[in-house]
Amino acid sequence: MRQSSLVVVANRLPIDDSVAPDGACEWRSSPGGLVSALHPLLRHTPATWVGWAGGTGPAPALPDVDRVRMHTVPLSSEDLRDHYEGFANSTLWPLYHDAVEQPEYHRRWWEAYQRVNQRFAEATAEVAERGAVVWVQDYHLQLVPGLLRELRPDLRIGFFLHVPFPPPELFMQLPRRAELLRGMLGADLIGFQRAQAAHNFAQLVAKVLDLPATDRRVGVGDRVVRIGAFPVSIDTAEMAALAGRPDVAARARRLRHDLGDPDHVILSVDRMDYTKGIEQRLKAYSELLASGHVKVRDTVLVQVAVPSRERVTQYQILRDRVEREVGRINGEFGRVGEPAIHYLTQPFDRAELAALYRIADVMAVTPLRDGMNLVAKEYVAARVDDTGTLLLSEFAGAAAELPQAYLVNPHDLEGLKQKLLTALQADPADVTARMRAMREHLHRNDIHAWARSYLSALDDGGSLLNHISTTG
Ligand code: ADP
Ligand code: F6P
Repeated sequence: MRQSSLVVVANRLPIDDSVAPDGACEWRSSPGGLVSALHPLLRHTPATWVGWAGGTGPAPALPDVDRVRMHTVPLSSEDLRDHYEGFANSTLWPLYHDAVEQPEYHRRWWEAYQRVNQRFAEATAEVAERGAVVWVQDYHLQLVPGLLRELRPDLRIGFFLHVPFPPPELFMQLPRRAELLRGMLGADLIGFQRAQAAHNFAQLVAKVLDLPATDRRVGVGDRVVRIGAFPVSIDTAEMAALAGRPDVAARARRLRHDLGDPDHVILSVDRMDYTKGIEQRLKAYSELLASGHVKVRDTVLVQVAVPSRERVTQYQILRDRVEREVGRINGEFGRVGEPAIHYLTQPFDRAELAALYRIADVMAVTPLRDGMNLVAKEYVAARVDDTGTLLLSEFAGAAAELPQAYLVNPHDLEGLKQKLLTALQADPADVTARMRAMREHLHRNDIHAWARSYLSALDDGGSLLNHISTTG
């Protein structure tokens, strides 16, 4: 077994096998913030990525991607149902997102979560060199740091949670809350998106495990586990360069023309997820059309909603409801050749996404709760001419960093309608000033700065930064 000095462990690999319409097998990256964030970092770095390839059955052997070795962990159909769709996405995901859908608790799911976490820990222990750095990602694998430390005490272990970490009132619902906290504490450093999440975690370990904890450190026997906020970001320069490419500019012009050269284009790009506030946004838009504040001929809404976690009931219900509502709105307010909403469920390549960002006069990012929301940051990075208005939910992690956006509470329907109208009618000088400030922030705080700050905290003055490309 070939071993690496840097191992990233994440539920999903950065490539996914999918069947092309002609029946051929092709490889592509799956939409989602985690892969978008880590891809630019690892592209130039020799490392191993331990993860799941997206199917069931024996683990396929995958080719290296750039300098990253793919080490596949197999999931059976029971693991898929009980670990990925069950404990990860029907217990933890809704619980961590303010319980906007009801979290479900089943003992069988917890058993699968333990089993799969154990398998990931064993696979990681096999591929990590002596003294290697292991970087465990996200809520699917919260037991891995603890399990891995038992197997390989020589490793330096970091854990990063991409999603929100909930307040004690919610987390305390979890039947196996103590085990989950102990699992995370196997890491040397636990990173969260926001300082509030680190605070929630410190309160919980003090209360549930009776450990000494501040918002920066937790004492675990003779070890100190550091905790803190490390807001994840994007490769700002890369997105700006892509958006500035002449072919992308030409594609943007074509797209705008195909939309009928309207006065205003509103864009939303989401995974089809109930945390993203898609239904609330459609309702607001529909009421603005009904009241005549927005007219189909002047304004178009482009809603990209790529299907996600499609076998989970709550996601199926959401998709049905969204599609019914889009159909109703188009039936009621559209005209021949002029739909009120352009609704797209396809995955797009980065250049097409950049072209879409370029045509969006208003980008509506209105999740009910989101760890960060990289789409908001990608939009800002793509606005190379400093135009464009970002309508951003207060409940996205990105809001803490981008206060110049038009911030909105997506639960407040009247407020959402009002903010959308304000964004559509914003004064161009004000729009430019806000966009410029947000772009400057993202140029300073890009994904390379994120990796530098996380790894130097994990490192404690050592040489970890040599492991990874943090300069772009
Ligand atoms: P999440 O992690 O919840 O999916 P983020 O907004 O943080 O949310 O990240 C979503 C990522 O997926 C972004 O990098 C975005 O560009 C990408 N993405 C979203 N929709 C699509 C799509 N239709 N095709 C390709 N990539 C997409
Ligand atoms: O951060 C949230 C997250 O679960 C990421 O781990 C992943 O990139 C994204 O959402 C997509 O989810 P899934 O891997 O379930 O398709």
